[in-house]
Amino acid sequence: MEILFTQQELARRVTELARAIEADYQGKDLLLVGVLKGAVIFLADLMRHLSLPLAVDFMAVASYGAATKSSGVVRILKDLDTPLNARHVLLVEDIVDTGLTLRYLLDVLKARSPASLKTCVLLDKRERRQVEVPVDYCGFVIPDVFVVGYGLDYAENYRQLPYIAVFRAT
Ligand code: PRP
Repeated sequence: MEILFTQQELARRVTELARAIEADYQGKDLLLVGVLKGAVIFLADLMRHLSLPLAVDFMAVASYGAATKSSGVVRILKDLDTPLNARHVLLVEDIVDTGLTLRYLLDVLKARSPASLKTCVLLDKRERRQVEVPVDYCGFVIPDVFVVGYGLDYAENYRQLPYIAVFRAT
């Protein structure tokens, strides 16, 4: 598989994102919200570089499958444990593609009246966007290729790779 981002490149970019987040959230009650499962490795690395008080929570979602995906309706498999009122929420995603998942999650979370709501996305496949979503902290913009590793899967495989690679079915 062709490596798109090496372990070192990922580590460097994650550290840069952490510095930017640290600067913006000084003195604020930060809640990181990870979206399972793809975001776990990114989130784990990111939070280890954040020298400020924070809490972490997770959501698990599933889209309704290819046929209905364009509806933008996402099924919540696991909701947050934490109430959001007055929290500064940073939603952490591994990848934004059509934007439908992030759009839905932002709408759901916004309705719970957080003090603020921003997004941190490792990979932005911008050319595939169907709905506009704000990406406040972006790791890398990538072309329309299928990527695996560093949390991202192909049929649940390859999530454990320490780098991000382009997957091509042969
Ligand atoms: C990925 C990713 C986002 C979503 C982005 O999750 O983590 O949640 O797809 O796609 P979109 O912008 O087109 O909505 P996936 O469904 O692969 O689940 P996973 O995180 O468990 O691998």
